[in-house]
Amino acid sequence: MTTQVLPADEAGIAEAARLIREAQPVAVPTETVYGLAADATSGEAVARIYAAKGRPSFNPLIVHVAGLEQAERIARFGAAARALAERYWPGPLTLVLPLREEAGIASIVTAGLPTIALRASAHPAMQGLIAASGRPLAAPSANASGRISPTKAEHVLDSLGDRIPLILDAGQTSHGLESTIVAVADGAVRLLRPGPISAEELGAVAVATPDRVIAPGQLASHYAPAKPLRLDAVEAGADEWLIGFGPIGGDVTLSAGGDLVEAAARLFDLLHDADRRPVAGIAVAPIPRDGLGNAINDRLQRAAAPRTEPDQ
Ligand code: TXA
Ligand code: MG
Repeated sequence: MTTQVLPADEAGIAEAARLIREAQPVAVPTETVYGLAADATSGEAVARIYAAKGRPSFNPLIVHVAGLEQAERIARFGAAARALAERYWPGPLTLVLPLREEAGIASIVTAGLPTIALRASAHPAMQGLIAASGRPLAAPSANASGRISPTKAEHVLDSLGDRIPLILDAGQTSHGLESTIVAVADGAVRLLRPGPISAEELGAVAVATPDRVIAPGQLASHYAPAKPLRLDAVEAGADEWLIGFGPIGGDVTLSAGGDLVEAAARLFDLLHDADRRPVAGIAVAPIPRDGLGNAINDRLQRAAAPRTEPDQ
């Protein structure tokens, strides 16, 4: 695919919004780094973010919203979270909060977690795209997996050129450093990722001071099913629920047609669903180990592993 680069003006944003509504990912500037945005309510749109980034694993993504009103429809805000949002939004602060199940956010966005990361960016391009598409936008940094975060449209083109349809160009981002992430639970504020807003600043309005730093990717928080999980299964064993793929039908299927984007979009929903079935174990058909299939296999392997070590 050819990657178009358009100025982040009204016409560019209108074209980006059209692609978002067609479940395509689009690179868009924020005041921190460029993000690769997709409709957070569409599992397939979000799966295409992973496909484009070539990310070998599913990490929960930040969902970008216009502001507090839209955010409160997606997550539960207590007094501490509301105070932080009122003070720092729009801006480079991400809040991790309890997810409202009924909000319609695709489960691949949160990697099946009961919490969600929300951010209201001050950048007019991101704000314009949220307004024009009418969707909350999941967006990790717009770089290929393992590459550094992009602060210019050219960085995005270098790393994701030919893998995404459009980059909105608004020049250099102002912070060049990803947003500060804090988790707010029961009034306690914990710093998960340092960023442009310091822990000290946040302490000023936080009910409790941030007490620990967890580097991204080291969060022991990914969803794992409660039941034993068997991989590369060609048929269900006794008392097993089989999740199929391609030619292996199973009790349900990740994708009858063997489509990895569809499979990634359905993965967490089907694992949750399997946990609720009246059977002792879960089996999953083989998933090809290429492209998005690597991320799906990584997630399944973690879910199948003994639960002693935190996820990396
Ligand atoms: O500045 C930024 O934050 C940029 C721009 C594009 O908004 N985005 C960004 O996204 O850096 P990403 O996907 O590269 O980093 C998101 C981080 C990950 O470390 C992830 O583990 C954490 O947010 N995260 C997301 N949801 C979470 C959750 N429910 N609980 C804990 N951590 C979460
Ligand atoms: Mg990143």
